[in-house]
Formats: sequence, structure tokens, C-alpha cells
Amino acid sequence: MCGIVGYIGKQKDIRIGMEALKRLEYRGYDSAGMAVYNKERKEIDSIKAVGKVASLEEKLRSTNFEGSPFLFYTRWATHGQVTEENCHPHADCTGNIWVAHNGIIENYQQLKQELLGEGHVFLSETDTEVLPHLIEKFFTGNLEDATRKALSLVHGAYALAIIARDDSEKLVLAKYSAPLLIGLGDGEYLAASDPSAVITHTNKVIYLEDGELAILTPKTFSIQNYQQELVERDAEEIEWSLEDAKKGGYPHFMQKEIMEQPESIINSLRGRLLLDTGDVRLGGLEQVQEKLKNIEQVEILACGTAYLSGSVGTYMLQEYTGMPTKADIASEFRYKKPIIDKKTAYLFISQSGETADTLAALKEVKKKGGLALGIVNTVGSSIARETEAGVYNHAGPEIGVASTKAFTSQLTVLALLTLFLGRQRGMSFTMGQRIAKEIANLPVLVKETLETTNAIMEKIAIKYQGARDFLFIARKYNYPVALEGALKLKEISYIHAEGYGAGEMKHGPLAMIDENFPTIALCPSDSVYEKMISNIQEIKARKGPVIAIATQGNEDIKTIADDVIYIPKTLEMLTPILSVIPLQLFAYYMGILKGYDVDKPRNLAKSVTVE
Ligand code: AGP
Ligand code: GLU
Repeated sequence: MCGIVGYIGKQKDIRIGMEALKRLEYRGYDSAGMAVYNKERKEIDSIKAVGKVASLEEKLRSTNFEGSPFLFYTRWATHGQVTEENCHPHADCTGNIWVAHNGIIENYQQLKQELLGEGHVFLSETDTEVLPHLIEKFFTGNLEDATRKALSLVHGAYALAIIARDDSEKLVLAKYSAPLLIGLGDGEYLAASDPSAVITHTNKVIYLEDGELAILTPKTFSIQNYQQELVERDAEEIEWSLEDAKKGGYPHFMQKEIMEQPESIINSLRGRLLLDTGDVRLGGLEQVQEKLKNIEQVEILACGTAYLSGSVGTYMLQEYTGMPTKADIASEFRYKKPIIDKKTAYLFISQSGETADTLAALKEVKKKGGLALGIVNTVGSSIARETEAGVYNHAGPEIGVASTKAFTSQLTVLALLTLFLGRQRGMSFTMGQRIAKEIANLPVLVKETLETTNAIMEKIAIKYQGARDFLFIARKYNYPVALEGALKLKEISYIHAEGYGAGEMKHGPLAMIDENFPTIALCPSDSVYEKMISNIQEIKARKGPVIAIATQGNEDIKTIADDVIYIPKTLEMLTPILSVIPLQLFAYYMGILKGYDVDKPRNLAKSVTVE
């Protein structure tokens, strides 16, 4: 997600925009840009910079830019590398129309081809740039009319702020599936991605709804819906502090990122599921599509939580593509004298795209001629650039050190990759369609899981806050989730926790179990449920408390476990995306109970760029 600031009003000082943009930097930055209408010269001035918002501020110092309206923008790239040319605002051929965009235009390639065919000249490789050219195509002097016509051809997600040299007394906004609000100032109006950009000017905001268009002028504003009907909406009063606003009103980034997983999964899926053919479109893999048809096995390399999502991926890929698949900890891989195989696809998973151990393993594979692919959240990062091809998560920036929404996004992309490779290898249309439909339903199930387990997990944390050790057990698809749950608890509450294959209990760990040693058992109603019940019984026989994560409707488990948390039913391969949620919440509430900084746990860094 990126940060958008727009302004129209009596002031000409663009530092208003610069200061507002700095407060949106947490939303992700790899580059920043601005555009401002200069009334005297009747022209729009623009400047862009790669890097943090401060780089833009530095460049602005050597200009005398001033005026209104203006746009400021900080980019979190999805389409197109991190370059000045790719940074927004983007303009049309004549420098008349300027657009800042948060989101993804799914049908941009088709639109771009049509516009190129009509003689439009593109300067960037982004999806966004089709928008100013489309508006240019329909512009006859009225910016909102041209915008509406352009958007009727667009599929995807967008929050837009638009200005025009030839209709300069307007700031036009449009919103669909990405956040955008109007800040109501005194003789001025602001547009922003979230309240943190405007709360030093006003605490009165109006949130736009999907399909709405807003026209702001120095004196007034109006909102129209899809049918061009005027929308009357009362302003909301933001009571947040600036810090709260950055966290969307949540007390911590970690909780915000746990709770925004329905949206981050929607964005990870956007434009990729082909429900009618039970298949997947992964644009980032198109150039290696033929190579992928010829691979015979997959090796996944990553660290920490990314390694654990990859471990879940091994079950998916092995079961649905028939290819031997394994996951390895990147920091171990290089020292094993790895045998790089031409028939193997090496898949590197990384949220930051900068993890030194993962990058080192990647370079080792490439040095020996292996096919290196990526699942990366940060566009333009080192791992993203080093891999031959890959799939971006589009999960938005993850600020909390503990990886939460990135984990479920990685699992979602792995499910897409499984479907993609499975359908290349004889997976039937009906199986493909069944899996695709279940994947499409994930955001709804994740939302339901969050709503039904959030309060319970806070109570469970309070109930077990005195425990000094925890065991997490599971089997098959959920075994790596048990390890992830233990990792979350360790890194957020500093409590000792171990994840273990449930079948291994009797080969040692059972010796630890007594009434002071709780076990969290992931036992959804799947192919290994009966085995899990046996393992839970072994623990209960030693008086060990058991907290079970089970499938909705399973009443029997209540007679065995001390506490039961329910998750919705889904395909076995997708349950990890749901079963991890109560574990994320459990770690979060345990860390809060301990009074720790859950966003920045001691001794840890968000991106481990050293070996
Ligand atoms: C997980 O909560 C940790 N923050 C850590 O294990 C992390 O997953 C690991 O360092 C890998 O980071 P990456 O995904 O950015 O490569
Ligand atoms: N898809 C656009 C780009 O890659 C916008 C990305 C964003 O929302 O930051 O430039």
C-alpha cells in the first residue's frame, strides 16, 4: 500500500504536503513524488525521488515550487521496479492530467496496448500510468467526467487523487477497494490514504466508499456514487493521536497487521484466480512457464516464519503436483555442499527480500545454474531482483517485527503456485476449480476466524499467563504451524515454547508434561484428526492442560481438551491459513500481558540483513 496526499485551498505552501506525506511513510516507501499546479505559469510542476520521503524533500529544497492544488505520494511498488520514472504522480502525454494511485489495475496490460495503439507515449512500466492516458483520451475540459469514463474501463483496486492543468480549480478523488478520505479544513480540503496525514490540519474527515467520486474545489466539495447521484455523508471526528492513526486506530502494528489479513489476502489473490477454468494467472512466472513444465521437484529455501510457510508449501506441492518437495533453512543450505539440480525449481520466500541467509543461498543456487524463483513481499528488494522470476505477495508493508500477515500471504501464494503447477501436471479441471473456489473464499473465512477467536484468545492468554513453558503440536499441514505458533510466542512474550510433530511426543517430549506444562494442539477435522486425538489423550493421561484448535461443529473435542477454539472448515491444504490466526492472537495477548513492546521485541530486527 502507498501513501497519497492531495490538497486544494487558499495556501500555496507545498510544505503542507511534504509534512503530511512524512506521516504516511510507514505505509511503505521505496520512492516518493509530487505535482503542483502553478497558477501564474498555468503549468504543473513535478519532481520525484527514489528512496525515503526525505529524498524528495531534499530535491524540493532546490525548487521554488508552490501552488494549489497539489499531490504528494509515497510508493510501495507492485508493478514496475523502484525508479523515478515509475514513481507517481503519473502524467498523460501533454502533462495535463496527473494521477497518484494506491492499488492495482488488473487489466492494465490490455488497456496499455490499446492506448499505445492510439499513439499514447508511456514513460513508466507501472500499471498506474494507463490512468492519466485514459483520462486524457476522454478529457474535453471536465476532469471528473473524463475520470468517470476512464474508470468505467478499469478493473482492479484504486484510491486516486487527480489534478489537471486545464481544469485547475479541482482535485478529483476516486475510490475502489483501497482507502481514501477527505479532510475538511478551514477554507481548504485535503485528500489522504489515512487520517495520520490530515490530523494536524483537521480532525473532521469523510471516508469515501467503493465506487464513489469526489470533486474538491477551494470553496466546496461533492461526492457522487456510481450512478452519479450526489452522496451526503456526515464528517467523522478523529480522536486518534498521530501515532494511533498510523496504526489505523489499533494500539500496535502487530494487532493491526493480524486484523488486516482478510485485506492482505484479497490483495495477494487480486487478479490471479481464474475460477471459470480452475486455474491461476501468475504474471511474474510467465517468462519461466515453459521451464516450470519441465521441472521434476521443488526445493524451498527461507528463514524463520518464511521457512515455516515454505514447509507448509511442501505438503501442498507434494500432494497436488506429485513432485518431491522439500524445505530447507537457508542458513544451513549453503554449508551442506548443496547439489544443484537442473530439474529442480528453487523457491526463495522472504517478506523483506533482504534476509542475508536467504540471499546467500540464492546466490549459491544461481552460481551453480539452478532455477531460482521468489515469493517476496517487497518489490525491488535484493532477493526479488536476484531471482529469475517470482510472485509478489502484495500484502503491503509489514511493520511489526513478528511476521503475521506476510505468513498467511505466503501460504496463499503457495496455494496459488500449487494450483498453477498442479494444473500443468494433469490436475483435473474439476479439482482445479474446487481448489480455486476454496482459495477465493479464504478472506471470508479469515475474517470469520478473527471475529470468533480474538476475544477467546485474550482470555486464554490470561488463563495461562503463569505458564513458563508451552508445547505446540500438530501433524501434516499444520505441523509447521505448530512451529510457527511456538516461534510467535517466543519472539513476542519471551516464554519458552516448542513446536513438535504430535507423533514425536512419545519419543521424548512427553517426559516434560505435567499439570504446569500446557500444550496447544492443532486438531482440525482432517486426515490425521484421529491420530491427533490419540496424542492429546497421551498428554491428558499425564495431567497436561490441552488447548485445542478444532473445526467448527466438533463437539467431541470438548470432552477431551481443557479449552477449545474453533476455526471454520476448509480444504485441508488451506487450514494453516486459519489455524495460525488464534496462535498469532495468543502470542500478541501474552506479550501485552507481560508488558512487552509487541511491535519491537527485544534482540530482534525486522529484516535480518546479517548472517
Ligand atoms: C518471524 O516473525 C520473524 N520476524 C523472522 O523469523 C522472519 O520471518 C525471518 O527473519 C525471515 O524474514 P524475511 O521473510 O524478511 O526473509
Ligand atoms: N500499482 C501501483 C504501482 O506499482 C501502486 C502501488 C501502490 O499502491 O503503492 O506503482
